[in-house]
Formats: sequence, C-alpha cells, structure tokens
Amino acid sequence: MVYKIQQVETTSYSDQKPGTSGLRKQVKYLTSKINYVENFIQSIYNAIDDKSVIVCGGDGRFYSDAVIDKVVKISAANGIEKLIIGKNGILSTPAVSSIIREKKASGGIILTASHNPGGPDGDFGIKFNGKNGGPATEIFEESKSIKSYSICKDLEVKIDQIESKTFEIENNKKFTVEIIDSIETYLNLMKEIFDFNKIKTFLSKGDFNILIDSLNGVMGPYTEKVFVDEFGLDKKCLRNYKPLPDFGGLHPDPNLTYAKGLLDEMKTGVYDFGAAFDGDGDRNMILGKDGFFVTPSDSLAVIGANLKLIPYFKKTGVHGFARSMPTAPAIDQVAKKLGLKCFEVPTGWKFFGNLMDEKLISLCGEESFGTGSDHIREKDGLWTVLCWLSILAEKGTNDRASVSEIVNEHWKIYGRNFFTRYDYENCETKGCDLLMEHLNNYVQNKSLENKLFPTNITDLSQCYVVEKVDNFEYLDCGIRIIFKDGSRIILRLSGTGSTNATLRLYIDRYTKNEFLYTEETSKVLETLVKIALDLAKVETFTGMKEPTVIT
Ligand code: G6P
Ligand code: ZN
Repeated sequence: MVYKIQQVETTSYSDQKPGTSGLRKQVKYLTSKINYVENFIQSIYNAIDDKSVIVCGGDGRFYSDAVIDKVVKISAANGIEKLIIGKNGILSTPAVSSIIREKKASGGIILTASHNPGGPDGDFGIKFNGKNGGPATEIFEESKSIKSYSICKDLEVKIDQIESKTFEIENNKKFTVEIIDSIETYLNLMKEIFDFNKIKTFLSKGDFNILIDSLNGVMGPYTEKVFVDEFGLDKKCLRNYKPLPDFGGLHPDPNLTYAKGLLDEMKTGVYDFGAAFDGDGDRNMILGKDGFFVTPSDSLAVIGANLKLIPYFKKTGVHGFARSMPTAPAIDQVAKKLGLKCFEVPTGWKFFGNLMDEKLISLCGEESFGTGSDHIREKDGLWTVLCWLSILAEKGTNDRASVSEIVNEHWKIYGRNFFTRYDYENCETKGCDLLMEHLNNYVQNKSLENKLFPTNITDLSQCYVVEKVDNFEYLDCGIRIIFKDGSRIILRLSGTGSTNATLRLYIDRYTKNEFLYTEETSKVLETLVKIALDLAKVETFTGMKEPTVIT
C-alpha cells in the first residue's frame, strides 16, 4: 500500500516557546487546543535540514501513546527516512541522547515533562535534541509562523514488538519505523564507562545494601536490568520500579520532599546507599546510611575529585568542569586543586553542550539534582549512581568507606559549601515579576553595595558585607547578591513550570571552619535566608509565608 500525504491547514500558537527544557504544558491545555501537538512536531521538522534518522521515546507518561502516533504520521509525511522508537515508547532522556549519538541520528523527540507530575491532570512535554544528543533551541521561531502540517493519516504502527517495518509513501519515498530495545544501547555505553565487575563484586559481598527509587518513572526497567540482571541483586533493592502513566500519583522529582518515601526507608538504617530518579531519568538524588543527604553541589564535587577512579575518564582524561550559576561552587574548589578550568553557565543543560563539544569540560552539574559528563549531552541519573558506586567500591575495598565518610573527607580537603534552595511554587506571575523588578532596582542603584548585615551565629562574630548585586551575565538568568566572604543569595524564576510562576531562592555559603561541617544546613544558613527574604520582600510579592519545597 502507498500512503498518501495530506497537507492540513493550521493556525500558529504564540506560546510554544520551549522553557528551560523543552515545551511543557498541562495535558488538559494541550488536548484542548486544535493541532497544538501537530504544530510543534511540524515546527521541529521545519527547523531541521537533515531528515535521515530521528529517535523518539519518553517516560511513558499519560498521553504519550497519542503523541507517538502523531510523531509517526507526521514523520512519514515529512520525508524522515527512519524513525527509531523505544519499545512501548519507553526511553529515558539519557538513553535518547545515547541513541542519537550511537546511531548518528539527526535528532530525537523526547516525550516527557521530566520531574513534573503526570496523568490527565498533570503535565506533558515535547523536547527536541539535536545531532550531538543535546537539547536544541531553534523551534520557537518556526512555531510562530506555521501555516500547515503534513501527515500520513492512515499510517499505523505497533510499538510493542522489537521489529523494523518499511512503508511506501507517495512520491516513491520509503519510511522505516524501527522499534528498539529501550535499554540496550544505554546499557552498553554504561559498560564501556564503568567497571561493572568491580561494582558487582562490591555489591554482592552482601554487607552494603542499596535502595533505588524510580518514583514510578521511566527508570524502573533500567534499574532492573542493571541492579538485578547485571549485578545480581535481589529485586527488593528497587522501589517504585514500574513506569506508570501518572507515576502512581507521585511527584517524580528526586528531592527530600518528593522522594520522602525513600528518605524514610533510609532513616531505618538498613541501607547504606539510596538513590532516586525523576520521571525521565536524568535527575538523581544520592543518600547515605540513616538518610545522610548529599547535596547535588557536593555530589558533583565528590565525583569531580574522584573522576580518575572511573575507567572512562582514565582513558579520555579530564578536560574541565562546569556548573550552573545557582549551583554552590564546591566543584570550583576541586578544579582549583586539580588545576582545571571550571565554567559557570546559566540554568539549563543546553548550556553545557557546546563546552563538551569543544572538549573544554568532561563533567558538569546543577543544584537541581543533575550531574553528567561528556558521554552524552544530557544529565544522567543512573550514570551518577554508578559513579558513586564506583567510588564506594574503590574506597570501600580496603576501609569500608561510607557515603558520609566520603563526603566528610571531601569537606576536610576542600572546605564545605552549605547550600539550600527555597521554592515558592504556583505563585501569581505578576507578584513574581514585581519581585524580580524590585531586585533589579538593587542592581541599578547599587544601594546594597558594601552594606553590612550582622550574622547572629555565635561562633562567627562578623558581618556579611555585600560585594556586588548583579543580573547574571546572560540577562534574566537570575539576580545575585554576592558577599565579600563568597556567600551568595540568588533569586530567579523557574523556566520549567506549566502554569503560573515558581520563584526559586538559592543560598550558599563556603566555610573552611571544620567546627561548622557537622552543623545543620538550616542553622548555618539561617541569617542569610533571613537577609534574602527581607531584601527580596518574598512574602509581600508572593503572598506566601513559607516555601512549598526546601531542598
Ligand atoms: C531542567 C533542566 C535543567 C535545569 C532545570 C531547572 O531539569 O534540564 O538543566 O537545571 O530544569 O529548572 P527551573 O525550573 O529552575 O528553570
Ligand atoms: Zn528530568
């Protein structure tokens, strides 16, 4: 049968601007707008020249099947030669990035709203990654002027069997759909990077228990493959490992608030290592025995300091590091010691890609629970866990190092960067915009410079002195209040929400005072938090007395 291509007239939407990470909307919104998804997919194809191979898959959230069907039909009509889809539409974001690179594809369409809740009342998202496997940005302009899309309406494919099928499209074109194993390519890459035998031997001794929580997102099958099939562990080491369209009602964001179930289990003292992932598997949270929390900023620094223990980096060498601006600069201390460069970029993984392509960095990370390296062009949750297990396996062979011991040792060498983030979710956009405007006034009038704020922490009889207040290099990336001792207060508006505004307040403070290392973060940062809330008038502008999430 030869499939006909239809041109369908459509009206453009002005709100398809991808946020920090792709287009994200409420399912209800997407489904209420005619051709909303079709427009965006067509805009992707209007924006790219190379139409040979496209990869498609996602975290399997509600509405994925309908969107995959649209991707298939629109790809066929747009002259895509081959569309590679993960079985049942399942591919983690790191897996898509690895497949694009491995198959030398022209790009990939990732169907996920990452850590945002799913289900009929949740969010959906579409993200396009380019040839290097990383997020691409050029779709918005196309989406504003789109007038029609092309579609092969009658073309249907089944995505539950691993197989390849070729279809005849009018004008003598051929269109192949290849359904692939969701895990294989990614797993092979992990095996090249890490010493699987070493980790397996370490874990199979039986005196180091781990618990891995996929929060009912895409990582379930990946963790089963790695920890059960490869490392031979009992399935009991996995939590919430069945991908569910609504994540079983969980908010698939690996932090102390939304992965509380894991935290509570860790607090029982049974497990030595715990980790959680977000819906699409690029974020991670690392915990030690009794719920010892490793901040993402520290996790990045610890991995950076130990990178040479990992076979991949022994081979490639370590080029340099990078972090996003609000991330506490713990990795900067490691870079200094190792004589490496450390770059500071705006929030969003896309900003690391060029640095990797230019071989300027090998490792990077963000406070928002993302760590990754140049093995792909996305952050990678499972990769991070395997880094930690490699470090633990290496250090634990002789002296049974634990997560907290490794982190404490790290602080002794490099100092400690205390970090906290307050999120004020679902605020009125207007109030948040006014708050940022109010802060911008401090940037303009310089009235805060050299201002003193007394600290009320008894063992530090000093003042915080404002060094400068600025809008981070790239406009609208966040207002920074930087103190002379290096402490920082940062405020920015989130770019990943689907409705209203989320204000994020980041606080970090560096110390080499060993007596403070074991103090509670909330206590050490108490004064800075108060200064920030007062200066930014958070309650006045948001109407919220308390943040919704603290990480
Ligand atoms: C996504 C991106 C990250 C980014 C995060 C920030 O997860 O992949 O690179 O750090 O969003 O989101 P925000 O809501 O703070 O804009
Ligand atoms: Zn994610």
